[in-house]
Amino acid sequence: MKLLITGASGLLGINLAMEAMRGHEVIGVDRGRLKSAPFQVIKTNFFNTNAFEPMLDSTRPDWVINCAALANLDECEKHPDQAKILNTDLPRELATTCAERNIKFVHLSTDAVFDGTKEGAYTEDDVPNPQGIYSQTKLEGERAVQEANPQAIIARVNFFGWSLSGYRSLGEFFVNNLSKGNTVNGFTDVIFCPMWVNHLAQTLTAMLEKDLHGLYHVVGAQAMSKYQFGVEVARKFGLRESLITPQSVERSGLTAKRSHNLWLSVHKLSTDLGRPLPDFSTGLDGFYTQFQQGYPQKIRGYQQ
Ligand SMILES: NC(=O)c1ccc[n+]([C@@H]2O[C@H](COP(=O)([O-])OP(=O)(O)OC[C@H]3O[C@@H](n4cnc5c(N)ncnc54)[C@H](OP(=O)(O)O)[C@@H]3O)[C@@H](O)[C@H]2O)c1
Repeated sequence: MKLLITGASGLLGINLAMEAMRGHEVIGVDRGRLKSAPFQVIKTNFFNTNAFEPMLDSTRPDWVINCAALANLDECEKHPDQAKILNTDLPRELATTCAERNIKFVHLSTDAVFDGTKEGAYTEDDVPNPQGIYSQTKLEGERAVQEANPQAIIARVNFFGWSLSGYRSLGEFFVNNLSKGNTVNGFTDVIFCPMWVNHLAQTLTAMLEKDLHGLYHVVGAQAMSKYQFGVEVARKFGLRESLITPQSVERSGLTAKRSHNLWLSVHKLSTDLGRPLPDFSTGLDGFYTQFQQGYPQKIRGYQQ
């Protein structure tokens, strides 16, 4: 298949491209950060809304996976207009343009559409209640995609891996700081379901191959606190877990409000795929193996 990935320089985009190019032709869309990536790259800035049709007509992909977003929660609070353009208007336009051309479309959304007040795991039937500009614009993006293109896949995700910048993911945060002997806070009252980005990439591809459509939770099968995640990373990498101070997110001083419980059920997805999702420890092993093999340096070498 020919796969077009927007946001190809992002944490998901670059790893998805690297994973997918094993079995598919990959075209990455980037606004100028990538150089010498091992896949075809086309340059487009999505603040230019006339970009979609020529981009799809010149490349004619079978699948489009939209990884472009304004995904920094605090930046979204500062720049709500940009958040709306990238998180709501862009997915609507892409979903519409793909529907008109019969191109299968995947849109990435977030676990943070929920307010975190539920006890237990959220299912796809639970009513979202976004708590800030990021999650509001992402939820509006989901709704816009659903309306414009009912055959699209909408995946609510949360993942960790190695990024171009070297500091985009929570996994990198713990590895970078603990390696330097820095003390860090680990939130004990934010529960989430981290998935290794390569497992996410493989799962999205499997969903496309199975011709799934609609809304899915595509997160790790195991829920844990951000503190616990840090401890697991420290243990795997042989770093000092005592450098992680258990703390409440309420004392963090972060601008955007964070939901406390982002435990999402993956029952619908594992049922429709006909198999369980990969477990956390396998993903953490993969993250560590990449580190040992120099993968972080390799992908950082793809940027300008
Ligand atoms: N990371 C997580 O755990 C997580 C959790 C929940 C949901 N998600 C969702 O998953 C998706 C991917 O997230 P991510 O962590 O990979 O995000 P990311 O690392 O911030 O990547 C965002 C991508 O969008 C691109 N982009 C931003 N503005 C653009 C513009 N004007 N024109 C063209 N491209 C532009 C960025 O390009 P530049 O590199 O040039 O800025 C980058 O490639 C997003 O939809 C996000 O909301 C992520």
